[in-house]
Amino acid sequence: MANILVTGGAGFIGSHTCAALLEKGHDIVVVDNFSNSKPEALKRIKTITGKDFKFYELDILDFDALDKVFKENKIDAVIHFAGLKAVGESVQKPLEYYHNNITGTLMLIKAMRENGCKKIVFSSSATVYGVDNPVPYVETMPTHTATNPYGYTKVMIEQILTDVSVSDSEWSVALLRYFNPIGAHKSGLLGEDPNGIPNNLFPYIAQVASGKREFLGVYGNDYDTPDGTGVRDYIHVMDLADGHLCAVDYVLAHTGVEAVNLGTGKGSSVFDVLHAFEKACGKELPYKILPRRAGDIAWCYANTDKAKELFNWQAKYDLDEMAADGWNFTKKNPNGL
Ligand code: NAD
Ligand code: UD1
Repeated sequence: MANILVTGGAGFIGSHTCAALLEKGHDIVVVDNFSNSKPEALKRIKTITGKDFKFYELDILDFDALDKVFKENKIDAVIHFAGLKAVGESVQKPLEYYHNNITGTLMLIKAMRENGCKKIVFSSSATVYGVDNPVPYVETMPTHTATNPYGYTKVMIEQILTDVSVSDSEWSVALLRYFNPIGAHKSGLLGEDPNGIPNNLFPYIAQVASGKREFLGVYGNDYDTPDGTGVRDYIHVMDLADGHLCAVDYVLAHTGVEAVNLGTGKGSSVFDVLHAFEKACGKELPYKILPRRAGDIAWCYANTDKAKELFNWQAKYDLDEMAADGWNFTKKNPNGL
């Protein structure tokens, strides 16, 4: 078992992954600045697992603070979730996004190198496939264009980590390209808790179901898809967490750099997600067709062969289970965490 530093461990995907790491018997050290999360998430990880762990409230832009974490703990590998992730906001605030995500990652890698820790699992995104590649997305496709500053931070950080690993063969890097993570922990204690009006489909539907929003706005029903709405590869956040356990094992045992898709390989439309949620909460949910959202594409889903071959990992949960677990979290936490 290893000691894993988790940056952004209080966030949506980070908190579920921390719970999974502890359940598997790993030790963790968590850092977060709570810019998009709450301390309550850390308490709940402890409640779920019955285990304690070290936490440092720090900004990854602060090299000295990170360096201290490495000096005070023997870290075997890092899972790097910390970053800003709102696509629309990144268009409004590109400097803040580039600084937080890229400079933050540079500080982290520097602290890792100076303390002899050269194994990292990075949260990348399907957004690196841009708009020109055909679905399903395969890891070998070109990834050098994005459609917004957030996407470019992922493209650039993938490049930086690749260059670092080329420069020093002791590095081991997994670039995990997530598709659309949704759902929640089975306990209903952890889940997605966005600030303000949700940008993403699933938390928006959850708020319609809980009565916080009047109706779902469906962004376009004239795409070239079976029901005209956008198709995405939704993946249960616990499947995603499980993928991180495999990626940690992989980087601990290998060197070099690998990009790996974490998706189900199956596409679902906006109406598929809406209907799954209706089934979960037992009522019809109102919606209205709105114009297309700028920057959206019709199709996005993964080819998942590489994750199967390299990690022996495959998503287990279907859309109904994602919706049931998401609704369970919403019901139990009407005001979030
Ligand atoms: P999240 O916002 O819930 O979690 C990110 C965490 O990082 C938050 O707790 C936040 O407080 C922390 N953080 C941000 N900047 C920091 C800094 N400078 N110093 C310390 N902590 C900082 O987001 P999430 O959905 O859990 O996503 C985790 C990672 O996965 C992000 O890098 C995101 O870009 C990536 N990702 C997410 C999705 C998705 O749909 N959720 C999809 C693809 C990739
Ligand atoms: C978005 C981001 C992407 C990011 C991903 C995960 C954009 C353009 N892309 O992807 O970079 O990696 O989130 O965080 O923001 N929809 C509605 N009504 C809504 C919300 C969404 O109809 O209120 C539709 C969208 O048009 C899309 C689907 O639902 O077809 C999924 O949208 P969303 O959850 O925002 O994810 P992505 O657009 O795939």
